[in-house]
Parts: sequence; structure tokens; C-alpha cells
Amino acid sequence: MPKTDNINSIIDHKLFTEEDIHNMCVKLGKQLTADYAGKKPLIVGALKGAIFFLTDLVREMDVKAEIDFLDVSSYGDEMESSGEVKLISDLATDVKDRDVLIVEDIVDTGLTLEYMKNLLKKRGARSVKCCVLLNKEANRTSDVEVEYYGSKVGNEFVVGYGLDFMNYYRNLRYIGVLKPEIIKLVNNK
Ligand code: PRP
Repeated sequence: MPKTDNINSIIDHKLFTEEDIHNMCVKLGKQLTADYAGKKPLIVGALKGAIFFLTDLVREMDVKAEIDFLDVSSYGDEMESSGEVKLISDLATDVKDRDVLIVEDIVDTGLTLEYMKNLLKKRGARSVKCCVLLNKEANRTSDVEVEYYGSKVGNEFVVGYGLDFMNYYRNLRYIGVLKPEIIKLVNNK
């Protein structure tokens, strides 16, 4: 947790504790272990937000898996999706004939996930599914399927455990809801 900031000044309340997050990882890990039994999936983490979830999730999966990362962004430093997804850095692994599992911290509009799924299918992946920690459906504009998720969330701005506000606060151990006045401050700049 950042020591240089008073975290209470930006967080309204905790939404998920470390224990809640751990329990979600254990549950999803069990499900994925069963569903990917006998397969050698390629786990694709979407940088940067997914790194914390991915490292905890894969350690709950008893599966022979490879790990790689894609960096895609639709937000930059903005509070709302630009609607345009950009590929910032690509995978090192060939996905042809692979069972790919995309790991994401959050699905909001769904545009980032749709872009990644389409890209990987176009490259010849055998299957492309996703496992998302938080499923935020209020602003969904894509009908992309979310096969696995930890929890649904409302239309709140969440930070911590990989989720950022202006690229900060990813390193909080819990997930908190940002105070609405902080969002207003930034929007009025
Ligand atoms: C966030 C998040 C997802 C995406 C979800 O990434 O990690 O990838 O937005 O939004 P969407 O469903 O509306 O497309 P962001 O682009 O902020 O990059 P980051 O992971 O580096 O924070």
C-alpha cells in the first residue's frame, strides 16, 4: 500500500477484502482445474490490471499451463473507455491450436475482451475463454461471453488489486470504491 498517500482520503469503502479475493481465486481455480484437465492451456494475462489476479489464480490451478501477456488499452489515463482498443504489446507465444484462457481484472464495456478474443481466434486458437475477477455489466456494450468470473460489481469506480485510478493504487491488497468526489474533481479539471 502506498505510504506517501492517505488512502482514506480517496477510498469510500472496501468492497472486497484480501480474504474475499482469496476465496474467489480458490473457487475459480478449482473450476478451471476441472475444466482444463488433460489440456495444456495458454493463460493470457491482460496487462497491466490482471497481473495480481493472474498470479494468485494460476497458483490455485492444478493444470500444466503456460503463461504469456498481452498489453491492450482502451482507457489510457482516462476515467471512461475511449471505445477504441489498442494493442500495445503482443504475445510471444503462437496461439495456433491452443486452448487460451484470457485473465482480466475487470470487464466493463466488454470492448477490450471482445478485441482480445477476436484477435486470438483469428490467429487460430482452438478455444478462447476468459476468467475475469470483476464483472461490471452496467456499461456493457459488447455481447462478448464472460465464461468465468469472481463477482459481479455495480457501476462504481473500483481500485486496488490491479485496478487503477490514474495508474495508481493498483498495489492495494484489497478492492475499494473510490469516493465520488474524487471522480468529480478529475472530471472538472
Ligand atoms: C481496464 C481493464 C480491462 C479493461 C476493461 O484496462 O484492465 O482490460 O479496462 O474495460 P472494457 O470492458 O470497458 O474494455 P485499461 O485499458 O485501463 O488498462 P490497464 O489494465 O493497464 O489498467
